[in-house]
Amino acid sequence: MTDVALHDPMTYAAGFPHELFRELRETDPVSHHDHPAWPRGYWAVTRHADVQRVSRDSATFHTSPHPFLEEAADQTDSGVSELLISKDPPDHTKLRKLINSGFTPRRVAGLEDGIRTRVDSILAKLAGRDECDLVTDIALWLPLHVIADLVGVPEEDRKQIFEWTELTFGFDADVTAEQRGDAMMQMYLYADAMCEDRRKRPRDDLMSVLIQAEVDGEQLTQMQLDLFFLLLQNAGSETTRNLITTGLLVLLDHPDQLEKLRADRSRLPTAVEELLRYVSPVMQFTRRAGADTEVGGVPIAAEDRVLLVYASANRDDRAFGDPDTIDITRHPNDHVAFGAGGPHFCLGANLARLEAKIMFEAFLDRFDGLEVTTDPATLPRVNSNLIDGFVNVPIRWKALTA
Ligand code: HEM
Repeated sequence: MTDVALHDPMTYAAGFPHELFRELRETDPVSHHDHPAWPRGYWAVTRHADVQRVSRDSATFHTSPHPFLEEAADQTDSGVSELLISKDPPDHTKLRKLINSGFTPRRVAGLEDGIRTRVDSILAKLAGRDECDLVTDIALWLPLHVIADLVGVPEEDRKQIFEWTELTFGFDADVTAEQRGDAMMQMYLYADAMCEDRRKRPRDDLMSVLIQAEVDGEQLTQMQLDLFFLLLQNAGSETTRNLITTGLLVLLDHPDQLEKLRADRSRLPTAVEELLRYVSPVMQFTRRAGADTEVGGVPIAAEDRVLLVYASANRDDRAFGDPDTIDITRHPNDHVAFGAGGPHFCLGANLARLEAKIMFEAFLDRFDGLEVTTDPATLPRVNSNLIDGFVNVPIRWKALTA
């Protein structure tokens, strides 16, 4: 098979190359690829069982210095290596415990009413219209506001935070490295000031909880608080917006599934799981072998990079019957959209599920005659090797209940 540039965003310009993934799973499930900045290239792991094995074996497979499939050789200078997702046990274990103490199921469940109110206000802005952009008018706003509500960012500061987030993590090729660096610095300064304020006047928000969190006599440093603030904006927003957008496109493209869901709303939780599997909003992350080892019988040398291709594992027929068919009643559904287990499993999985459930309820209940006005195959996709999604999706409807 010719070498496939799985690190190149252009490979995903028209969506996931599922035929290619299938071929890799069948003939070369742990395949070697060249990388412009990594002299030893990387190994792509495409089968579900192998992706699980690597994810769960954090003693052998590390995320440090970072798990991103970047073109640039190293990201250690930009603070990326200090992010939660770039840390290995035991540092990761300690940090995650501290962060978990603020990120409890109770706090996430407590956001439900706020999410409903936010969906109402997003849709209220569409009153009197019969068309909009699904991404820029609907899908991107919900997660941005939910994270801001969770962390405690006041309404009046949000526009600025959202602009910095887009500059820091957006996939706009016109944004310079300097602009990204400046925006990141502004976010750190903002988080510093916010923490300072919460130390004097604690509130019922995540920032106040994290400042006070203590595990084994240790607290989060200011740098760790800043970095987590930054990571949350990215991890929580780019991902969920694409689940909402691509998930809705998939449902509109499969009217039988949409009708099934409309007929029985109790299917929403399993439908969200199936959309996560089918859509894979986060396509892949990497690991680094800490010692000589093997995956699926293929020898991997210490320091080799291993790519976990979630988008392929989620279509592996060894794990899912009829994997290319969307079935909103699929159960069990052992998808790896939030990671395949192990210490880095998505911290925000339940929050993302809740947001998607409430948003899809609104699509079902509030819109009549909803349709996409342009063939999705021709719509621009995010320029990324990490996140899959659309930049713009024009939609229209016959009636919208405010
Ligand atoms: C559909 C939405 C989402 C998807 C598909 C997604 C996917 C992922 C994946 C694949 C990982 C890496 C797992 C691993 O390496 O084993 C991850 C980690 C993470 N996610 Fe999510 N995520 C989503 C939403 C969110 C939200 C809403 C938040 C925050 C509120 C969030 C916060 C995080 C954090 C902090 C990590 C790093 C955890 C660690 O390293 O310990 N994610 N996510």
